[in-house]
Amino acid sequence: MHSRDPMISTHMAHAANALKQGKLVGIPTETVYGLAANALDDRAVAGIFAAKNRPYFDPLIVHLPWFTAPTMHFGGWCDDVLHRYVMDVPPWAYALAAQFWPGPLTLVLPRRACIPDLVTSGLPTVGVRVPNHPMTLALLAQLPFPLAAPSANPFGYVSPTTPAHVAEQLAQHVDTILDGGPCIVGIESTIVGAEEGVPTIFRTGGLSQEDIESVIGPVQVRVHAGSNLVSPGQCDSHYAPRIPMTWNDGTTTLPIAPQQCAALRFSTWHPDPAIPREQQMILSATGDLHEAARNVFAALRAFDAMGTSHSIALILAERCPDTGLGRAINDRLERACRR
Ligand code: TXA
Ligand code: MG
Repeated sequence: MHSRDPMISTHMAHAANALKQGKLVGIPTETVYGLAANALDDRAVAGIFAAKNRPYFDPLIVHLPWFTAPTMHFGGWCDDVLHRYVMDVPPWAYALAAQFWPGPLTLVLPRRACIPDLVTSGLPTVGVRVPNHPMTLALLAQLPFPLAAPSANPFGYVSPTTPAHVAEQLAQHVDTILDGGPCIVGIESTIVGAEEGVPTIFRTGGLSQEDIESVIGPVQVRVHAGSNLVSPGQCDSHYAPRIPMTWNDGTTTLPIAPQQCAALRFSTWHPDPAIPREQQMILSATGDLHEAARNVFAALRAFDAMGTSHSIALILAERCPDTGLGRAINDRLERACRR
């Protein structure tokens, strides 16, 4: 994992020092790269919003070090990392944390006062997760504070799944970017919180609804925002490439000339032979949704990069099967289409 970009390195001690000084660091996670800062330091957190050009109403996820489910100890819960930052953890949240952390799951829980208002956009809750990447887990273990980290992309743009993606857009804002290789999940964590006490998915992501329900039974899904934004990542404009995108599976007429189209395909080529193959991307030739999730954001970025040289004016997106991770991929594509 060597990179010629001096910004990208595997120098953990340097990254830890930068974070202790209130600077921003690009960190690898299994889902997407994060733009990290000391979650307990207002000034450092404000730097994240400025670097991303992110509105203050969109709260950040707090990344915690390794979690072990607590045991009853002398009649009370012993100290665990979760309890330092949240309270009133319902049994279903413990069950999910015990099963899926470290992993692509964010829990939205009532926050403690030590979490700055800026992190939660003033909400009484905070999103927390333990990311499953050895480098970031090692980093968290040596820091005396948790890390606030949104995806390391300018607000509204496609999330980064390699250190180079982070460097392309945020190099001037970070002290360093830790090189943990390409992200193995490729889409953001699934966010689960409570709505009137009922476990609810606020954002589909790298952990499927089926996996969650296998542990805690049926959950509600509320991923479309409407006017009251429970989870502002529900913003329609998220994840959009610069080139416009529309749903088209090849069964309807193309809105523009085929030479000007790119096609984002699930497992096969676009049925219209006039769309050049070099302007098409297949997410998984074997139809594997995990592989498709891993590739989707890089594919959108590649179309943007190819846009000018190939005069591509429109991306035609095909829906993935609406099951497992397919639902989260389709959600990202839907939002990109609604840009
Ligand atoms: O996989 C991920 O979750 C990545 C990696 C870096 O961990 N992070 C990520 O962060 O996707 P970001 O900032 O792009 O998305 C954070 C979203 C917010 O937009 C919001 O929807 C939700 O998390 N969120 C955070 N705190 C919340 C809260 N208290 N209540 C409801 N939703 C919250
Ligand atoms: Mg994001």
